[in-house]
Amino acid sequence: MKISGSILSIKDNSAKIDELINSGIDLLHLDVMDGKFVDNYSLPYEECLKINNLQKLPLDVHIMVQTPKQYIEKFINLKPKYITFHVETDNVLDNINYLKQNNISVGLAINPETNIDELLPYLDKIDLVLVMSVQPGYGGQAFINSSLDKINYLNNYKVMNNLNYQTEIDGGVNTNNIQLIKSDIVVIGSTITKTSNYKEEVEKIGELI
Ligand code: DX5
Ligand code: ZN
Repeated sequence: MKISGSILSIKDNSAKIDELINSGIDLLHLDVMDGKFVDNYSLPYEECLKINNLQKLPLDVHIMVQTPKQYIEKFINLKPKYITFHVETDNVLDNINYLKQNNISVGLAINPETNIDELLPYLDKIDLVLVMSVQPGYGGQAFINSSLDKINYLNNYKVMNNLNYQTEIDGGVNTNNIQLIKSDIVVIGSTITKTSNYKEEVEKIGELI
């Protein structure tokens, strides 16, 4: 299991972002929001470019906007490992194809209240499924348990249908619930960033997975 560290709760504190990048996490999770699809904002693309050591880790970009195309076009320039956008947004198939043409691994995210069936038409076309385990928008929320059923369903569906996508869970992951989670990647934000020593916390999490 890989850890994708989210900077959302530390905003533009560059020393803290640097501490996170150097804490032992496997990927850097960048949340992208415009105040519409979710009622919060994140660092704009131009500010992300200023992050020191931005390219030290593979980037895991999570776009939470209704019409993702213009954000995809920008973030593609960072050559991320994954660009993920939501199944609840516009022109899903076009955006999958656009990312593939640009050789970026494609992720589709699903909100807690969205039925898993919404993903089925796309699962043979994508590289990653991100299951939201909180309402998208903010770090530090409580984990929604039904997200575990979605991950288990997706893991079984993958084997039954001989598919290749990775699974990722995002939101509310902590040292008490991580051992219940069977995804390939876990996004972890505030569990790490609320501590005074990120490296120690990532080591602690590493011992549990
Ligand atoms: C929430 C974001 C998450 C969030 C996770 O909308 O997609 O990536 O930053 O933060 P924690 O781990 O604090 O729930
Ligand atoms: Zn996220």
